[in-house]
Amino acid sequence: KIFNTSEDGSVHVAREIAALIKTRQKENKPCVLGLATGSSPTRLYAELVKMHQKDGLSFKNVYTFNLDEYYPMPPDALQSYVRFMREHLFDHIDIPKKNIHIPDGTIAKEDVAEFCRSYEEKIDKLGGLDIQILGIGRTGHIGFNEPGSSEKSLTRLVTLDQVTRIDAASDFFGDENVPRKAITMGVGSIMKANKVYMMAWGEGKASVIFKAVEGPISDQIPSSFLQKHRDCTVILDDASSSGL
Ligand code: GLP
Repeated sequence: KIFNTSEDGSVHVAREIAALIKTRQKENKPCVLGLATGSSPTRLYAELVKMHQKDGLSFKNVYTFNLDEYYPMPPDALQSYVRFMREHLFDHIDIPKKNIHIPDGTIAKEDVAEFCRSYEEKIDKLGGLDIQILGIGRTGHIGFNEPGSSEKSLTRLVTLDQVTRIDAASDFFGDENVPRKAITMGVGSIMKANKVYMMAWGEGKASVIFKAVEGPISDQIPSSFLQKHRDCTVILDDASSSGL
């Protein structure tokens, strides 16, 4: 879906999420959301906060699972995705703290595998993700699933691509400070979601969006696996869709 502006696209996704939350409230059921960080979903989160504050949209039945976190990463660090999510969404809505899940960047190395296994299990126990929100990285990554990630991959510790570390350099005041690793949900974890929205704005994303949407399905562009997803909508503005 191509929108005139990123704001229009973000409002569209926010309305879809709000509608599902309300449906689930009526059914007395949880609504399970997979969430992303980065600049792409920030307007979406601002819109959801507005819906809570102005229209009384409640998030009490919402469970969230974030895609990824740098490793290692303390939760209060400037670059932490825990901090990002608090600032952009969680501190401004009524979601119960126990419903929020974000990969733990402080976990001991020997416990990472078990943490990742139980992250998947928690999602499955809630009946799976109703909606997964995604951005896309310059390498074609979703979450931190870099080129080479398999279609069946699950939550795990990964090594970041050098291109991704360079793109994150300004947040870390130099690429040498960007962690080399991250914990990310896998391509397979994402593919299990009922509905996926991948959001991308601006000319800088046009070339990777072309590869993801119209290029061959390949682990060299992990987002291209979404071509096989049963219900994935790519949310674009004029500039990010200009290569299609
Ligand atoms: C990071 C995140 C991704 C995100 C990507 C793009 O690598 N781990 O989940 O999609 O950045 O970020 P942006 O939305 O700022 O372009």
